[in-house]
Amino acid sequence: MNAARCLRPVASRFQPSTLPRVVRRYSSNPAYQYIQVSEPKPGVGQVTLNRPKALNALCTPLIDELNHALQAMNASDKTSVIILTGSEKAFAAGADIKEMAPLTFAEAYTTSFIESWSLLTTQVKKPIIAAVSGHALGGGCELAMMCDILYVTEKANLGQPEVKLGTIPGAGGSQRLTRAVGKSKAMELILTGKSFSGKEAAEWGVAARSFPTYEALMEGALGTAEAIAGYSKVAVQACKEVVNKSQDLGLRDGVEFERRVFHSLFGSQDQKVGMEAFAAKKKAEWTHQ
Ligand code: CAA
Repeated sequence: MNAARCLRPVASRFQPSTLPRVVRRYSSNPAYQYIQVSEPKPGVGQVTLNRPKALNALCTPLIDELNHALQAMNASDKTSVIILTGSEKAFAAGADIKEMAPLTFAEAYTTSFIESWSLLTTQVKKPIIAAVSGHALGGGCELAMMCDILYVTEKANLGQPEVKLGTIPGAGGSQRLTRAVGKSKAMELILTGKSFSGKEAAEWGVAARSFPTYEALMEGALGTAEAIAGYSKVAVQACKEVVNKSQDLGLRDGVEFERRVFHSLFGSQDQKVGMEAFAAKKKAEWTHQ
């Protein structure tokens, strides 16, 4: 690993503005240093964070690679669903503390440090399942919470320990954790920096489900991904869009928005395919149109 490269805050081989228009065959991309990409099942793209010596600490070049891979999968006809995972030991132990330590306010502010992490939530229209084992701390916990479905092992170690470093969560942790667990529990977790287990994450609604082992976690994530990949891409994208809107809109506006999107799906071929197949007692052959 090139440590010096990771210490450069804004170093980037993969600036979003320079992304190629034609999508590369990501499954055989040899260019990545901090992530691996694969296609474990047809229609399922997987990004595995792979910086083991630093417990997948999220340095800027890693985030650039992640964004590049996610955008390629988002644009690829081959991919319907994405799994984002780490190793059994660590999903990600947070933003790279050694990269952040010397950063000044002016550098952080003028380079919009950490803003690019949110690309996952703003530009990727396909569902992302986070499969989290081991440490998911600080930015690691935040990255996991940005995903659409969060699966964890029971023993996963999640938390927002930034207060221990003299700072605060910076990639949405104070907002997403609070929405998931409520103000009092989020205050307790963020003010003390105390970790919580995957089992607790599932009980509190931070995660959709917890699994007893790493193998069960990956099997569960893949099973869910395959199920989603078996549906119309049009309907899946719309499902994601309307659920996400619920996080930004009040109930009345959200229900109105949902109804408009529901109406718009009567213009898709797959609404006809799905409903006609049901009536004819046949399997739907999706056109993704
Ligand atoms: N940044 C940079 N390097 C990190 C790192 C991080 N977040 N987390 C771990 N590492 C490095 C360690 O420095 C160590 O490197 P060296 O071998 O070169 O010393 C290596 O990974 C292994 O780590 P440990 O020896 O500490 O492993 P451990 O098993 O004893 O402990 C741990 C594991 C409890 C996760 C511990 O590493 C730890 O506390 N890490 C920091 C967690 C943290 O505070 N995360 C929040 C970061 S701030 C943030 O994310 C801000 C934000 O909101 C965006």
